[in-house]
Amino acid sequence: MKTRTFAALLLAALLLPAAALAGGGRKVAPIADPVVAKECGACHMAFQPEFLPARSWEKLMADLANHFGDDASLAPAARERIRAYLVANAAGVAPGKESRKVADSVPANATPLRITETGRWARKHRPGEVNPVAFASAKVKSKANCAACHTGAADGYYED
Ligand code: HEC
Ligand code: HEC
Repeated sequence: MKTRTFAALLLAALLLPAAALAGGGRKVAPIADPVVAKECGACHMAFQPEFLPARSWEKLMADLANHFGDDASLAPAARERIRAYLVANAAGVAPGKESRKVADSVPANATPLRITETGRWARKHRPGEVNPVAFASAKVKSKANCAACHTGAADGYYED
């Protein structure tokens, strides 16, 4: 009896997702396409598509040769596959709260190329929430370095 109770408890603990133990929930779906994860994760963390509207991804994918000062060009087949994935899972397209909140935070006439330029991101990281000095610290270096502060970022966790 005792052994069985212990076994059941152990099983429950193993089945509990790590995030539930940490007290946070998954904010966005992790990237499910290995080509997107690999090609768009080569220089920085592969950002989840829900953080930008579809029109932003279209614009960004149309000029990878001039990508924030880098050349991130891809062969046409890979580029098309990635573009389709990003657009199909963009803010306002993917289900879920974060998707809708990001979409609602970008004016219809704006096409930001940076996640950090969306109203939703700016609000969540305003000076009262995050000390602006932190973004320039040696550990973080850039606002786009999400994983420096959100250790579970690649898996879609953003509440730590
Ligand atoms: C050759 C390196 C390289 C590759 C490959 C690359 N990027 Fe980038 N990306 C950068 C650099 C450099 C920045 C600017 C980072 C910064 O400001 O700290 C950036 C920034 C971004 C940003 C803006 C982040 C923000 O909010 O400031 C997005 C979005 C982005 N990349 C998407 C992509 C996507 C999608 C792919 C895959 C098609 C990709 N990147 C592949 C180098 C790369
Ligand atoms: C300097 C550290 C830092 C960096 C870099 C950073 N964040 Fe954050 N982020 C925070 C803090 C602090 C909060 C607010 C605390 C919280 O909500 O847990 C936050 C909140 C958030 C939230 C809201 C979570 C919620 O509770 O609703 C999201 C989503 C998020 N960040 C995404 C990002 C993304 C995407 C990037 C990269 C483009 C990024 N963050 C870069 C520190 C950072």
